[in-house]
Amino acid sequence: MMAHIDRTVRDIASMPRGGPDASWLDRRLQTNRLEYLDRDDVDDLKRRVICSLDRFGRLFGQHKKAARMVVDEVANIPSPKILELGSGHGGLSRELLENHPTAQVTVTDIDPKFVAAVAASDLGSHPRATVREMDATAIDAPDGYYDLVVFSLSLHHLPPALAVPVFAEGTRAGDKLLIIDAYRPRAPLHVVALAMMLPFIRLSPFAHDGFISSLRAYSPSALRALAYHADPAINVEFRSRRMRATVAVATRARQTGEGHRDRESRSR
Ligand SMILES: C[S@@+](CC[C@H](N)C(=O)[O-])C[C@H]1O[C@@H](n2cnc3c(N)ncnc32)[C@H](O)[C@@H]1O
Repeated sequence: MMAHIDRTVRDIASMPRGGPDASWLDRRLQTNRLEYLDRDDVDDLKRRVICSLDRFGRLFGQHKKAARMVVDEVANIPSPKILELGSGHGGLSRELLENHPTAQVTVTDIDPKFVAAVAASDLGSHPRATVREMDATAIDAPDGYYDLVVFSLSLHHLPPALAVPVFAEGTRAGDKLLIIDAYRPRAPLHVVALAMMLPFIRLSPFAHDGFISSLRAYSPSALRALAYHADPAINVEFRSRRMRATVAVATRARQTGEGHRDRESRSR
C-alpha cells in the first residue's frame, strides 16, 4: 500500500530539505550555512564560483540540456516569452536564444553585479533579450505575462519560507514554472557522496558551494509541499531522470484565462 504523504506541512519554515516524509538521517543532512554565492562580503570568491559554474555548464553541456528542457516546454508556442530567474552568468539564456529563433528572453538575477556583467556581455545587446534585476520571490510582471519562467540551480539557495513565494510568483507571472535543481540522493547514498566531496571544499570555492548545495537541495516531496503551501491549486510534475538533476514543472489552473488573452491581444 502506498504511504500517505502529508503535503500540508503546518510550519513550512521548518520543513526539512528532504521533505515532510524525510527519514531521521535525511533530516540531519542539511545546513543553514551560506554558500559563497549567498554572501555579500566575498565578491572574489563569488565571482570564481559563478565563472566555474559557467565553465562547468559549457564543458559538460548543462546549459544546452537546460535550454532543451525549456524549448520542449514551449514547443507549441511560436514566439514564447520566457523569464529566467537567478540567471547568474546567463549561460542558459544565451543557449536558449541560440537554439530558439523567435523566443523573447528576460534574463534576470537578484545580484546587481551579476546583472551588470550579463548586461555588459553579448546578451545586453541581443535584440530578443532584456537583462534586468529581479527577485524570484517578487516577480515584476503581470499575471500570465510569460509562457514560461525558469529557475535553474537556484531554488536550494532559498529557505522553505522563501521558496514558497517562488512557486506562487512563478505560476502567477508564467503559465509554467520550470525548476531545475541539484539532485538530492537518498540519505545513505547522500552520506557517501558528501564524504567524497568533503576533502575538496577547502581547496575550491566551487566545491565548497557544491557541498552546501547538496545539503540544501530539496527532494521531490519537499518541492510538492512547497508548491502546495503556495497554493493547493498548483500542480507539480517531475521530468527528472534517475539520479540526475531534479526537474519539476509547476502549473496553476487559471480561473479566467486573462493571462492568455492579454498576451494574444498584445501580439496582434
Ligand atoms: C548557483 S547560481 C545559478 C546560476 C545559473 N542559473 C545556473 O544554472 O548555473 C544561483 C543564482 O541564484 C541567484 N539568486 C539567489 N537568490 C535569488 C532570488 N531570490 N531571486 C533571484 N535570483 C536569486 C544568485 O544570485 C545566483 O546567481
